[in-house]
Amino acid sequence: MMNMTEKTVLVTGGLGYIGSHTVVELLVAGYQVIVVDNLSNSERFIFDRIIKIAQKEPVFYQDDVCDLAAMSNIFKKHQVDVVIHFAAFKSVGESVEKPLLYYQNNLISLLNILQLVQENSVEGLVFSSSATVYGEPDVLPATEETPFIKALSAYGSTKQMGEEIIEMVTSSGVFKAISLRYFNPVGAHETALIGELPKGIPNNLFPYVTQTAKGKLAMLTVFGDDYNTVDGTCVRDYIHVVDLAKAHLAACRRIINQECQSASEVYNIGTGNGTTVLEIIKQFEATTDKLLPYKIGARRPGDAEAVYADSSKAEKELLWKATLNLKDMIQSSWAWENTL
Ligand code: NAD
Ligand code: UD1
Repeated sequence: MMNMTEKTVLVTGGLGYIGSHTVVELLVAGYQVIVVDNLSNSERFIFDRIIKIAQKEPVFYQDDVCDLAAMSNIFKKHQVDVVIHFAAFKSVGESVEKPLLYYQNNLISLLNILQLVQENSVEGLVFSSSATVYGEPDVLPATEETPFIKALSAYGSTKQMGEEIIEMVTSSGVFKAISLRYFNPVGAHETALIGELPKGIPNNLFPYVTQTAKGKLAMLTVFGDDYNTVDGTCVRDYIHVVDLAKAHLAACRRIINQECQSASEVYNIGTGNGTTVLEIIKQFEATTDKLLPYKIGARRPGDAEAVYADSSKAEKELLWKATLNLKDMIQSSWAWENTL
């Protein structure tokens, strides 16, 4: 086993929702951490909160990963062992309206990172992929062998292309890459000092639920109750963001300990549990003792009926497994909402 405290991890998008939780876990585990974020979808105060939780300070560069010259300077200053590349735009709806913006930000940032990893003898890269690459899987739970279907959005397309580019570039063999396909990340840190900061009216279920319970929004609309599921509402695999953060540490360890079986690996990161929208509502009310006003509405175009993960490959090879349950996800999201 290598001594992790001697290792340096550069985290792009490290002040974002998943990035900030991962930076905390890396610092607590003893890694040296360099954060690069252009604050396009995050706030500077998250940096201070990370330090407060971890009691350690990462190095911070406010730079755009698409700026190759700025990024080259950072790699010249520091010997980086692993890069975790979170930086990307992530709104599916916005990507349908502004596809070019998504291809530019998500692909140019990735191409720059791949070039710098290759040129600077970095051991490996961990890439943020998404369950969105599966679209609506024919067979559930989705395994890593489940085929991609043609992406319905530029966002989904950048994740599929991202994985394909990584596979091609790593095949020359100078560094390793691990793509993590996240299912539905929710929840916040137990200190309620960091969490998701959705801009405007949220599209995702959890922030919509907490903002409705808080009285910021009038009512939640359940998008369809005529699906072929236990109660007619859609099924998803919600995963606590702290469990997800820990999956990144497991991926870093695998790269550093030279345990990768191939140059480019992919792993599903979910809990394996499918939960319906109505089950979330009931569990939210039971956990928080708050009444959640909701109505049943029409299906949302593009929604898959049911998506949940087979994460047994991650359990076997990354030695990682989700440990936090739905109650933990709800409690921590609610505690975070109450600080906003
Ligand atoms: P986020 O928007 O909270 O974090 C992304 C961070 O990257 C932000 O802090 C933003 O300011 C920064 N950023 C974006 N473009 C940049 C650039 N060019 N240069 C520097 N910084 C840049 O998003 P998140 O939820 O933490 O997601 C992180 C990653 O995980 C993304 O790649 C996203 O596509 C992927 N992902 C997210 C989800 C989810 O539900 N949150 C699901 C699957 C995959
Ligand atoms: C969406 C994205 C996915 C992204 C994920 C991030 C689409 C098609 N997919 O997934 O690419 O990785 O967010 O977390 O946009 N729901 C309601 N009412 C609401 C909001 C949501 O009923 O107000 C339902 C949805 O129909 C869905 C479930 O809640 O069944 C979860 O929705 P959401 O949080 O938006 O995530 P996904 O659609 O699964």
